[in-house]
Amino acid sequence: VQVCKNFIKMAFKCWILSFEMLKGKRVIVTGASTGIGEQMAYHLARMGAHVLVTARTEAKLQKVVERCRELGAGSAQLVSGTLSHHTLTPAPLLSGGLDMLILNHVGKSYFSYFDGDVRHIQKLLDINFLSYVAMTVSALPMLKQSGGSIVVVSSMAGKVGFPFTVPYSATKFALDGFFSSLRQEFSIQNVNVSITLCILSFIDTGKIRTMSPAPKEECALEIIKGGALRQREVYYKYTLTKIPLLLRDWAAELLDYLVRQHYRVERPPAA
Ligand SMILES: NC(=O)c1ccc[n+]([C@@H]2O[C@H](COP(=O)([O-])OP(=O)(O)OC[C@H]3O[C@@H](n4cnc5c(N)ncnc54)[C@H](OP(=O)(O)O)[C@@H]3O)[C@@H](O)[C@H]2O)c1
Ligand SMILES: *[C@@H]1O[C@H](CO)[C@@H](O)[C@H](O)[C@H]1NC(C)=O
Repeated sequence: VQVCKNFIKMAFKCWILSFEMLKGKRVIVTGASTGIGEQMAYHLARMGAHVLVTARTEAKLQKVVERCRELGAGSAQLVSGTLSHHTLTPAPLLSGGLDMLILNHVGKSYFSYFDGDVRHIQKLLDINFLSYVAMTVSALPMLKQSGGSIVVVSSMAGKVGFPFTVPYSATKFALDGFFSSLRQEFSIQNVNVSITLCILSFIDTGKIRTMSPAPKEECALEIIKGGALRQREVYYKYTLTKIPLLLRDWAAELLDYLVRQHYRVERPPAA
C-alpha cells in the first residue's frame, strides 16, 4: 500500500511538473483538427501554452482554436494546408520562437494486404515522413535557441511488422531511423534539443471499435508529458507497447506469431 501511495504521489508531482512547464511555451501541433492532435491542443491550452495548430481542414481548425482560447491558451492560431517535403514550420507566427514541435499528422492509407501501389507509398512517405523531416529542419534554429523539444508521434506499427498496414508501417519505421539517429548526433554535438518518439497502441479516435482502443484524451496528455520531461520515448498504453517490445529482440518469431493471432481474432482483412 505504501509503495502504491508513493507511486501515486510521484505520478502526481510529475503531472504538476509537466503542467507548469508548458505555461507560456510556444507549441506547434500538426494534425490537430481531430483525433489525438486535437486533444493535445486542448491540454496545451489548459496549461496556458501558446498553441499553433495545423491540418488541411480550416473550418475544423477554426473550432479547435476557439476552444483553445476558451480553455485558457496564451494564444491560439491556425495554419491550414497539406503537409509535404516542401513544408516549413509556421513557427515565426508564434512571436518569433518555438519551444516544442509536435509532429502528429498522418495521411490516409488502407487496411488490407499490400496492393503493390508504389505511388501510394511515395505519397504517404511525403506526408508521414518527409514533411516531418522538412519541418524539423526549418524549426531547428528556433528550437536550438530555446533549448526546445521535438515530439514525434509514431505507433507500434513503427517498431514491429504488422500485417495490413504495409505503407503506414514503412513511414513510421522511417521516423524511428531518422529521429533516433538525429538524437545521437544532437548528443554528440551538445545540441540541447530533445527528441521524443511516441509508441502508441490503438487509440479511440472514432475509427476502430473492435480493438478496445485506449482513450485519446489520456494518450494526448501522456505524449505532452513525455515531451515536457524530455523523455527518449513514450509508450502508451504501456502494457500494450513496452511489454510486447521486450519480446521483439529476444523472441521475434514469438512476437510475430502473437501479432498474427491477434489480427486473426480481432479483425480479418477486408480484401
Ligand atoms: N488512432 C490510433 O489508433 C493510432 C495508433 C497508433 C498511432 N497513431 C498515431 O497518432 C497520430 C494521430 O492519429 P489520429 O488517429 O489522431 O489521426 P486522425 O484522427 O486521422 O487525424 C489525422 C490528422 O492529420 C491531418 N492530416 C491528414 N492528412 C494530412 C495532410 N496531407 N496534410 C496535413 N495534415 C493532414 C488531419 O486533418 P485534415 O484531414 O483536416 O488534414 C487530422 O488532423 C498519427 O501519427 C498516428 O499514426 C494513432
Ligand atoms: C537544455 O534545455 C532545457 C530546457 O530548455 C534546460 O532546462 C536545460 O538546462 C538545458 N541544458 C543545457 C545543458 O543547457
